[in-house]
Amino acid sequence: MMKNSAYTAIPVDEKGYVAYSKEDAETWQHLFNWQQPLAQEHACASYVEGMKTLGLSEDGPAQLPEVNRVLFAETGWRLEPVDALINFKRFFGLLADKRFPAATFMRRPDQLDYLPEPDLFHEVMGHCPILCNPEFATFTHWIGKLGVQCSHEQQVALARIYWFTIEFGLIREAGTTKIFGGGILSSPKEISHSLDVSVVNHHPFDIDTILRTRYRIDIPQPNYFVMESTEQLLAIQDKKLLSRIDNAISDLKSAVI
Ligand SMILES: [Fe+2]
Repeated sequence: MMKNSAYTAIPVDEKGYVAYSKEDAETWQHLFNWQQPLAQEHACASYVEGMKTLGLSEDGPAQLPEVNRVLFAETGWRLEPVDALINFKRFFGLLADKRFPAATFMRRPDQLDYLPEPDLFHEVMGHCPILCNPEFATFTHWIGKLGVQCSHEQQVALARIYWFTIEFGLIREAGTTKIFGGGILSSPKEISHSLDVSVVNHHPFDIDTILRTRYRIDIPQPNYFVMESTEQLLAIQDKKLLSRIDNAISDLKSAVI
């Protein structure tokens, strides 16, 4: 989903493994030990549970075949190594096939706290624990299946739902706002940023508003949508969503004119 990347994909060997450098291993370890205390405190229960299931540790970078063994057994998902640059057609096509696109490179040491494009730490530590949860896994699969039927214009709108849920979603749990978006959870700075209502906006979760909310990928997010429960994710999975997407597209067009 990226237009330009400062990184190039690292090829996997015939067994799906990548020969990471010592610097990559140090970056993983540093990030893991910075991110985990914050994530354990602020992530939703499904994430914390998924971390236990996956058995991820500071010893890394994680290798896709090892993550996939657990993930596939839990929910039938697996990570698919891709270039940093993939288009919407490929992106939704992979999700429809329960394959989660995963860039295999590790961020550089000078980009530890914020990276505007997904690296291996983001894909594994941000997304995989949640993908162990059947409800979130089904939702991600549903987005993929809908996305492959959409025009490019509809895909752009559908990507807003993906962005404000799977990447940057918040959820209320026992009276506290928790994080389930992988874009937040893989960035230690964004974890604190996303919950600081003195600098960001927490909006009630409303699908028609989300469909009309543009986002930028290259800045810490100013807007987050807070679900009251996972019931709201189930409620989106409705055949009427395509007509709501079309209404949002025409509203945004008339607003520009
Ligand atoms: Fe992501």
